[in-house]
Amino acid sequence: MNDLAALDAVLALPGVTDVLINGPGEVWMDRGQGLEPVALDLGDAARVRALAVALAARGGRRLDDAEPVADARLPDGTRLHAVLPPVADGCALVSLRRPPPRAPDLATLVAAGTVPAELADVLRGLVTARVPLLATGATGVGKTTLVSSLLGLVDPAERIVLIEEAGELVPDHPHVVRLIERRPNVEGAGGVGLARLVREALRMRPDRVVLGECRGVELREVLAAANTGHRGGMSTLHADAATAVPARLGALGAMAGIPPRRLAEDVVHAFQVVLHLVRDERRRIAQVGRLEAQGARLVVRVALEADASGGCAYGPAWRGLVELAGFAREAA
Ligand SMILES: Nc1ncnc2c1ncn2[C@@H]1O[C@H](COP(=O)(O)OP(=O)(O)OP(=O)(O)O)[C@@H](O)[C@H]1O
Ligand SMILES: [Mg+2]
Repeated sequence: MNDLAALDAVLALPGVTDVLINGPGEVWMDRGQGLEPVALDLGDAARVRALAVALAARGGRRLDDAEPVADARLPDGTRLHAVLPPVADGCALVSLRRPPPRAPDLATLVAAGTVPAELADVLRGLVTARVPLLATGATGVGKTTLVSSLLGLVDPAERIVLIEEAGELVPDHPHVVRLIERRPNVEGAGGVGLARLVREALRMRPDRVVLGECRGVELREVLAAANTGHRGGMSTLHADAATAVPARLGALGAMAGIPPRRLAEDVVHAFQVVLHLVRDERRRIAQVGRLEAQGARLVVRVALEADASGGCAYGPAWRGLVELAGFAREAA
């Protein structure tokens, strides 16, 4: 069996999310219980390099001395990152991440303790009412997975356009199309960035435009889309704490050249509700808040806070959230 086929066999093992190659005899996999060594002998550094180059080619990427780093999406959805020496020290480094075959449904997230049971119906209502949502949290807390799952609640009659850096969202929905950002080539030409893709998506008769991760100047296009009547969008934003969300949005707005007051006004249209995730014993929603503008200042008013043991405390924005979700006041 050649090395590519052997690697495919590892990736196909049940539950494997990540495979990491550090060297000829150093292959690791993650099946949900942390990293485990894999008995796969890749011979020597030259073979690891050849394997990395072959994987990059599968993803349509060049990987050689002139372009020693590749970040690609393989045809089966696997995300590849590969680095060649001398940028990688000694031997080529390969990181592969498999997307889950399909996003878990909301009931599964409730059972796993990710979504507080008290919140499930409200989330369903918010999605149905086309309230735009922003999943926030630190790296790897499950933001993308949550958005994927929520998209599964969208009416099957709606058309969803996904805009991503790599294809990571796997919503269980019958009508989804995906646009993937293209990096410029080594000469700096041919790039198609997220901002452009947001504009293009608006011409594709979308019912929902979903930006996989908001991390730069494309925020301007997302705000413009919301202001021209495109409702029900979702995105994710990196923020280490719930309290850091306004400042993160402020920083992205500054990057995009948007004055603070306009940013505050526009952001509360584009993302009305923040779902903040944390990771302790599990990956879970720790806070739900309403984004509000106070003059030029963005604030998050707390609607619900959940602790690690599953206990929930309601905040001042809960009633308003329940109303947004289309429930009567009494339901709170
Ligand atoms: N609720 C969950 N319960 C258990 N595992 C989860 C949950 N959500 C996500 N995961 C797993 O955690 C990993 C990271 O998830 P995900 O990509 O959704 O996080 P993220 O916050 O979007 O990460 P990034 O910061 O890299 O964008 C994946 O392997 C995913 O399968
Ligand atoms: Mg993500």
